[in-house]
Amino acid sequence: MTWWRGAVGYEVYIRSFADSDGDGVGDLRGLHDRLDHLAWLGVDIVWITPFYPSPMHDHGYDVADYKGVDPVFGAMADLDAVVEKAHGLGLRVVVDLVPNHSSSEHRWFRESRSSRDNPYRDYYLWRDPAPDGGPPNNWVSHFGGLAWTLDETTGQYWCHLFLPEQPDLNWANEAVRAQFDDILRFWLDRGVDGFRIDVAHQLVKHPDLPDNPVADEPDDVEMGTTASIWETLEHRYDSDQPGTVEIYRRWRKVADPYDALLLGEVYLLEAEHFERYVRDDDGLNLAFWFTPLHVGWDVDLLRRALVDGAGFRRGGVAWVSGSHDRPRAVSRFGGGEVGRRRALVLSTLLFGMPGTPFLYQGEELGLPDGVITSEEAQDPIAVRTGELEHSRDVCRTPMPWTPGPGLGFTTAARAWLPFGNRVESDTVAVQRADESSTIHRYRRLVGLRRETADLHTEPVEWLTDEGPLIAYRRGGTIVAANCGAQAVALELPEGTWTIVFDTTAATESADAGRTLELAGHQAVVLRRG
Ligand code: GLC
Repeated sequence: MTWWRGAVGYEVYIRSFADSDGDGVGDLRGLHDRLDHLAWLGVDIVWITPFYPSPMHDHGYDVADYKGVDPVFGAMADLDAVVEKAHGLGLRVVVDLVPNHSSSEHRWFRESRSSRDNPYRDYYLWRDPAPDGGPPNNWVSHFGGLAWTLDETTGQYWCHLFLPEQPDLNWANEAVRAQFDDILRFWLDRGVDGFRIDVAHQLVKHPDLPDNPVADEPDDVEMGTTASIWETLEHRYDSDQPGTVEIYRRWRKVADPYDALLLGEVYLLEAEHFERYVRDDDGLNLAFWFTPLHVGWDVDLLRRALVDGAGFRRGGVAWVSGSHDRPRAVSRFGGGEVGRRRALVLSTLLFGMPGTPFLYQGEELGLPDGVITSEEAQDPIAVRTGELEHSRDVCRTPMPWTPGPGLGFTTAARAWLPFGNRVESDTVAVQRADESSTIHRYRRLVGLRRETADLHTEPVEWLTDEGPLIAYRRGGTIVAANCGAQAVALELPEGTWTIVFDTTAATESADAGRTLELAGHQAVVLRRG
């Protein structure tokens, strides 16, 4: 049994978690000082989004030095202090590794673009213009526009599946692979417990870089994490290429001696594509399965996403209902009280699954999206394309710790993003003082996940396959959720079943009887006996 089995993770979006020095940007010292909150909540793993030196065109996902700390987030000593304190509290620390692209300010890219015969030229994907002088192929960027920018000096285009300031690394080059072995070792030697691997399904590109086919009709799941132009092509040659998993097999040789976790951001929403990344136990240890986060509140699609996710190599999936890239669950599910109830229902369903559930900061508070005007937009997707509906700013507003100016997040009058119109009852302090609050529900759910051995070992047996109820059994534990608005009943299997968790708290520790009654948007966990 590896340490991430049965564990609960928590994503810290470092810019917005806690600001210790009053510059309006969250930092490592701020995280250090708030680690007690995570220990109180009961989570086991803290994933920290990128804190490396960066010009911040994509808020840190454009790394200019893979072995440093950006001064806005602190110094290496602060990272060491986070790791040390976290370990003292029984928390593991996972750092974000961004191997698909570096920053255009990285020394490798500066060298690479300086001349065609520079030794670093082949670290990136350079190609001659098409015969008409245009880009080498029809690829587009996740963040809008083309995936190619012409370098006037050397007369070739560089490839960037994100911003031009995020040139894609050439993973066909052994020198790049060797650099990353070394980067992994660097952080493992500093005591980190693993890596969340950014864009883990896109590192390898088809060697000929052919045009991508134009997409047919969009799928029944909503994409929406990328600019709309991304959806106009089928990503046959710039994503999910053979040979990608080989990279993780290689990394396992580096990571395994440290007992470290490799957790991939595999943004493939179709089960048959995703499955390849978790099929064998010699590549990624875990991969985020994002489909539940893309189907809206549609019970049939949700059920399919859960059934698929539970069916992958047992325990190979990390479950999320939110991230720093998606609108918050409460808002996706309609906002207000209904949105909050639905979000907790989904979390309950995910926390019973095989694999490792993660919370995104603020989910434990039942936060809806923060309010941001178009003038305040920071996310490159919104700024570059003007497509505000795809902006990721709404889920990135500062964490509300205490009521009042700065929300306990910062002493500055303004933060890097607006505070998002939080109210007193959104804050950690107010919710911790109120046993009936959302944070106490989540804390109970986290605790239940940890203490229920069935949820770490037993296979999943589905108890319903249609209608508003989603229910499954794992040995002596049942998770049942009413995704509809009307009350429904579920016939329970033989035996005596006790309600050990209830999203509404109303029926906890009651004997469920033979027929379990669930109100609209209510979920429970039952234990036999
Ligand atoms: C991942 C990150 C996202 C980032 C992108 C480019 O999808 O989660 O925030 O913008 O990669 O690095």
